[in-house]
Amino acid sequence: MGGDDRSEKDRQLDGYRVDERDSFLTTDQGIPVADTDNSLKAGERGPTLLEDFHFREKITHFDHERIPERVVHARGAGAYGYFEPYDGSLAALTRAEFLRTPGLRTPVFVRFSTVAGSRGSADTVRDVRGFAVKFYTRQGNFDLVGNNMPVFFIQDSIKFPDFVHAVKPEPHNEMPQASSAHDTLWDFVQLQPETTHMMMWVMSDRAIPRSLRMMQGFGVHTFRLVAEDGRATFVKFHWKPALGTHSLVWDEAQKIAGKDPDFNRRDLWEAIERGAHPEWELGLQLVPEEDEHSFDFDLLDSTKIIPEEQVPVRPVGRLVLDRNPDNFFAETEQVAFHLANIVPGIDFSDDPLLQGRLFSYLDTQLIRLGGPNFPQIPVNRPIAEVRNHQRDGYHQTRVNQGRAAYHPNSVGGGAPVPSPEDGFTHHRERIDGYKIRMRSESFADHYSQATLFWNSMTGWERDHIVAAFRFELGKVEVRGIQEGVVRNLNEVDHDLAVRVAEGIGVDAPGLPATPNHGRSSPALSMSDEPADGI
Ligand code: HEM
Repeated sequence: MGGDDRSEKDRQLDGYRVDERDSFLTTDQGIPVADTDNSLKAGERGPTLLEDFHFREKITHFDHERIPERVVHARGAGAYGYFEPYDGSLAALTRAEFLRTPGLRTPVFVRFSTVAGSRGSADTVRDVRGFAVKFYTRQGNFDLVGNNMPVFFIQDSIKFPDFVHAVKPEPHNEMPQASSAHDTLWDFVQLQPETTHMMMWVMSDRAIPRSLRMMQGFGVHTFRLVAEDGRATFVKFHWKPALGTHSLVWDEAQKIAGKDPDFNRRDLWEAIERGAHPEWELGLQLVPEEDEHSFDFDLLDSTKIIPEEQVPVRPVGRLVLDRNPDNFFAETEQVAFHLANIVPGIDFSDDPLLQGRLFSYLDTQLIRLGGPNFPQIPVNRPIAEVRNHQRDGYHQTRVNQGRAAYHPNSVGGGAPVPSPEDGFTHHRERIDGYKIRMRSESFADHYSQATLFWNSMTGWERDHIVAAFRFELGKVEVRGIQEGVVRNLNEVDHDLAVRVAEGIGVDAPGLPATPNHGRSSPALSMSDEPADGI
């Protein structure tokens, strides 16, 4: 037998794999079962008896098979693979071993998803795609929970429930299932101009990828890399597909959604099965801390990109997906990504969208995955050793040894202690200011980058965007919503607004009196004095 060249994660999973082929049936207690086709009855035709423990166990387990689907990103497809950095050039910028050690292959699990549809919805709908990567590093799990678009709909996560309530099927009749063509979404969009830049991406062909293997990924937020000496550098993460970025056209997308709702997940599965392993290059945009305020937008605003002309993307490594999961539920459904899964050498920024996500993911997973021990589920388990004082809880599988589950203690004989040398330390950042509920004035420009996006499009790309706006807005029924969206588009580009307005039969707007770029959104209070009712 040759050596085992599989990843450490793959070998860890061996301990959980169950091969039931050519075996005899048992109950959950391991008791051999003689007959699983007939329940135990009183008499040949007679009522089924409560005594039938095999019947009760089989039915009970079945009755409890479903868990809640994710509150967003419910439909997804996943795969295992690895990440390797090209060289050691990031050693000066980060303590993160998986980024700085040449030749080190870190196992990963990646889950791609749509956002709005339910678990059984179609793949090729117009939507954002999730691009979530779990790196099983030797310093613990690092999750890069991104999307296939570099910006987001909202600037502050306190708006996320509002936004998702508007995007999801409407509450009275649960329609529409998997389309962005409905009143509540467009109502939210017209009332929240901060959505404008993202909506340009969503109306572009980026929202109907040809294949999960052919789309870009973005960490969206500005993060930090932190060096050995504590120096930090702002960073944006980019994934670039080796196959290039390709989209469907809308007519194809709609037909495929009917003919093969599994189109994207099937394509990913089959490519991996036949050895055409999808690959992405990781690129970083790096901004020294002292340059934080040298842009005409705020680095902490997730509705903005850093234009690549200003900060080029530096290629640093590659991601390869080479193995399909063994079991969809066990792995793809139970995987739990969380922005707060972060390793020494990487840190957060104060982006208010990022900050709220740090709360939301663990909170939702506590209910979705049934309590605090879901990090012990095989797909979620780090390859790094886990040693701590967490105890008990539903579905506890660890058999901790010893008397002491607290720190410090003098009875435990070696209970885990913090390690100041290797441990995660939060980047030291000086914070000044009032405790106040507001949006920074530096977040107020909702249109300049939407215009930048529009201006960067070719003629046919513009045609597709106009057609998408017409198609989606054309279905809106509540009066005034279409006009509101067209007003926002007029701040992006007059020609765009006129073309959309003409296509849906509303009055074309006049030229914007003054460009609104940089002006405050009416929906937001920009006062730095605390207002009533906070
Ligand atoms: C799920 C991305 C903003 C809450 C996800 C997933 C992705 C993602 C990729 C699916 C993960 C998977 O495959 O399991 C993003 C990006 C955001 C963003 C890129 C903005 C830049 C937010 C915000 C919140 C939020 C602001 C809430 C404050 C959630 C929740 C889930 C989720 C609750 C379900 C997680 C689970 O059940 O495991 N997000 N998201 N997201 N996201 Fe976000």
